Amino acid sequence: MSDAPRWRDAVVVTDDQGLEVLADAASVAIRSLKRTSPGPRSDWTPSAIHDLIGAIEICPDEGVALDAVLAQLGDAVWRHGVVPGDPACVAHLHPPTLVAAVVTELAIAAANQSMDSWDQSPAATEVELHLMDWLAGQIGLPPAASGVMTSGGTASNVLAMTLARSWAAAKVDVDVLKQGLPSEAARWRILCSDQAHFSVQRAAAQLGLGRDAVVTIATVASGAMDVAALDSELGRLADAGLQVIAVVATAGTTDLGAIDPLTEIAERAREAGAWLHVDAAVAGAFLLSERLRPRLAGIDLADSVTIDFHKLWWQPFNASALVVADVARFDLLRVKSNYLDRGDELEGMVNLVGRSLDTSRRFDAAKVVATLRTLGRRCLAEMVERVVDLSTYAGAALSARPEFELLAAPSSVTCVFDAPGVDADGLRRVQQRLLARGEMVLGRTEIKGRPALKFTFMNPLSTPGDVDQLITMVADELRAL
Ligand SMILES: Cc1ncc(COP(=O)(O)O)c(C=O)c1O
Repeated sequence: MSDAPRWRDAVVVTDDQGLEVLADAASVAIRSLKRTSPGPRSDWTPSAIHDLIGAIEICPDEGVALDAVLAQLGDAVWRHGVVPGDPACVAHLHPPTLVAAVVTELAIAAANQSMDSWDQSPAATEVELHLMDWLAGQIGLPPAASGVMTSGGTASNVLAMTLARSWAAAKVDVDVLKQGLPSEAARWRILCSDQAHFSVQRAAAQLGLGRDAVVTIATVASGAMDVAALDSELGRLADAGLQVIAVVATAGTTDLGAIDPLTEIAERAREAGAWLHVDAAVAGAFLLSERLRPRLAGIDLADSVTIDFHKLWWQPFNASALVVADVARFDLLRVKSNYLDRGDELEGMVNLVGRSLDTSRRFDAAKVVATLRTLGRRCLAEMVERVVDLSTYAGAALSARPEFELLAAPSSVTCVFDAPGVDADGLRRVQQRLLARGEMVLGRTEIKGRPALKFTFMNPLSTPGDVDQLITMVADELRAL
């Protein structure tokens, strides 16, 4: 065997020489990010981008220099990607990222701890547990609370519903992981508002309950769950002999940003003997702000809470958490394995695979902790308040113009509006033309059958002047229809 194989510098080695190789490559990768054109995306057509990417040889017989590969990533992919930090990138809950988190991503990848078992991530396991304890404390959950990182809000919500289902089965002495669903499951129902994220339906489908097991509750004009409608639905379900196993409240709906009345819903869930899950994927970051935190009153009454760090905590994908009020509830999920989680580990060794639907898993907690420690709570709170204020500003600015109508006053970082006299096709053309020209990535949605456009403000560097400009661009596009 040769002493110096040609892949020598391809493997991450953490001695001085290896780190120099890594730092040089990292600086090339960083330079590949330089923007070469304005706007939130290029004006290339889908087929032109398809052809450009299709021409890339995925695995040549002989490799290409990393510098060239990274340069191509810049010229082809970043250049024709979206720029979440552009003030006109306002369609989705898709944030620009923070320097502390991005550089920690590099360290996460290089150190490559795996969060399934303690022997693959000794200190990293403790970091994730420490972060989860901190988060549980911020939410106001009891000392027995803890959590686990997941890949996103969808995964966190599915995990919460998985626990709620197993908990409901355990109450009738059925181990659902072993025996499958009990016969009672045909009568089980999950309640959420008609504005809740579709992942609640997805969870019901995946868990074998079926989407029809999800009963949606009407919302008031703001998009928050209507408690009177919840009461009448609970009565109707009880009369029909159906059992509510979980109630999902949303703190920050995807479109209108509405926060359900958590305390009232918690009371109803408790009376019904149901698991209360709060999907705070969007507004969970309000916990950081003294001004916004009161809007989450009642979140501490939850059995489980979803928090998405890759939304208003500005983390690169993926970073979400599911926190449960009682860590013992994770036992409902635990599958023993001979090689990972044998149950005979040394004292103090936690194998997080016992809390997760994943096995191998990234150490995403590191970038979250790096961010929280670097910026501190006050700074992050200001950033969250800034984007909330931008959406309030946009709401007032749109309301002041006769060509627009708000569907609801903004509740968090979104602003949903339409244009009286313009039908769904007109709104579609406005959104698609701005996207095609690469001038704006504008949101388009539908609220209770009413088509609408949507701004989502995720960039704390954007200004009211940027918002005015977005409104003018949409107005100009409407006039050009
Ligand atoms: C309220 C809410 N919950 C869950 C999700 C799903 O999050 P993810 O895209 O991280 O899976 C979203 C996504 O926008 C959301 O708005």
